[in-house]
Amino acid sequence: PVLVVDFGAQYAQLIARRVREARVYSEVIPHTATVEEIRAKNPVALILSGGPSSVYAEDAPSLDPAVFELGLPVFGICYGFQAMARALGGEVAQTGNREYGRTDMTVDGGVLHAGMPGHHPVWMSHGDAVTAAPAGFEVTASSPGAPVAAFECPERRMAGVQYHPEVLHSPHGQQVLSRFLTEVAGLEPSWTAANIAEQLIEAVREQVGDGRAICGLSGGVDSAVAAALVQRAIGDRLTCVFVDHGLLRAGEREQVETDFAAAIGAPLITLDDADVFLGHLAGVTDPETKRKIIGREFIRSFERAVARALELQGDDAESVDFLVQGTLYPDVVESGGGSGTATIKSHHNVGGLPDDVEFTLVEPLRLLFKDEVRAVGRELGLPEAIVGRHPFPGPGLGIRIVGAVDKQRLDTLRAADAIAREEMTAAGLDSTVWQCPVVLLADVRSVGVQGDGRTYGHPIVLRPVSSEDAMTADWTRVPYETLALISNRITNEVPDVNRVVLDITSKPPGTIEWE
Ligand code: XMP
Repeated sequence: PVLVVDFGAQYAQLIARRVREARVYSEVIPHTATVEEIRAKNPVALILSGGPSSVYAEDAPSLDPAVFELGLPVFGICYGFQAMARALGGEVAQTGNREYGRTDMTVDGGVLHAGMPGHHPVWMSHGDAVTAAPAGFEVTASSPGAPVAAFECPERRMAGVQYHPEVLHSPHGQQVLSRFLTEVAGLEPSWTAANIAEQLIEAVREQVGDGRAICGLSGGVDSAVAAALVQRAIGDRLTCVFVDHGLLRAGEREQVETDFAAAIGAPLITLDDADVFLGHLAGVTDPETKRKIIGREFIRSFERAVARALELQGDDAESVDFLVQGTLYPDVVESGGGSGTATIKSHHNVGGLPDDVEFTLVEPLRLLFKDEVRAVGRELGLPEAIVGRHPFPGPGLGIRIVGAVDKQRLDTLRAADAIAREEMTAAGLDSTVWQCPVVLLADVRSVGVQGDGRTYGHPIVLRPVSSEDAMTADWTRVPYETLALISNRITNEVPDVNRVVLDITSKPPGTIEWE
């Protein structure tokens, strides 16, 4: 892989994504990785990410200088650019000339920016600046606050830029990253959906051997693609399980039972466990407690499904050892590491896994981003109705009711959600909107007037967000007409709701889900 060394800013993962968009496989590693650890990963290039600090700060994160002697192509970005300059004998100074935001940059030759306009905007965010490039490096760009805004040494396959090529505010950034990978590092762009699918299937085969697995389908893209991969790997030794926990949206169960089962090609067991889940959730208002209860009950449901799965699978099998999960890379990174066990994201997946899980987890997607998961899904022949679906959390509507969860509240939320989804789809917003949680504020009431009478009902919150990977998000500017239509229909058609409000918070600070 191309290893993106994380200096502690939030950019490392985004860089890894951009590298993969350039069709080269990449992973994130912490800057504390030793040279041996780096070498063990067989990297084909290193990218040093931006970081929050100044190279002059006392606790400035650093990288073992020996990594520059590995003979690997290296690309430094922002803080990584300065760290690289310093390690290789250049100069970095506290010029007092801070640049933040859109900056006009002047290009002066070189391989990296070849074919791009001589002046173009880039996104800067720095206090210190490189004042002299290391010996043997050519300075190929400058800006008012960065006399050395880019340098390169194609012979050593090294280059760096002061700006952030990974953000969309640097319009030529993706091109620069691509050029580094292909023209400077000499890599072949070969990370394609077909290759990914093939490799993942092979890896599952290796992990599961002649064992048996069950896969919980949630109705979401991730579990569907994970299940399809495992089905291609181990065939009828996989059984899918769909837990109807009573926290589903309108039509979800029917869709899973018809579309999903057929597309994945594995037998499906549906468990009617709404009473169990709602029983355990009765009176519970704390979001984390809800998540833990739901996670625990998911596992109990899966355990109950094992006996039936074995019956279905026939022959003499005695146990099902593997549980397939649709864990994705952002969750692995968010939970603190690309290595070790997957405990934290698996928590995330179904809400919160208990400690006593006896299954071994199979997580074929744990190194993928959502767009890659969708591409793999298409590669495996899953229909657009599945791969194009908006994310929906495992704990379902249980974490979209602020307050205690019960059947009546769920019916209310389900009705409001169905209207919002219908109108957003009718308005053609499904590809603009990443997802739109609809939330019931069950513990809040406000006064309204409907017909001739006073009402005292609950508000519904619409939370439409735009995002690339759910790590960060912005609220979507849904057209007023659509919002008006949704508001009208919900207040008219859904009993107990007399007010519809719009959540206009980005992430951060607000998460996408309310709980
Ligand atoms: P937040 O609310 O953390 O959500 O901004 C980020 C993304 O993750 C989804 N989400 C979940 N998905 N199980 C899941 O499978 C969960 O427990 C869970 N919680 C949040 C959320 O819908 C959004 O896409």
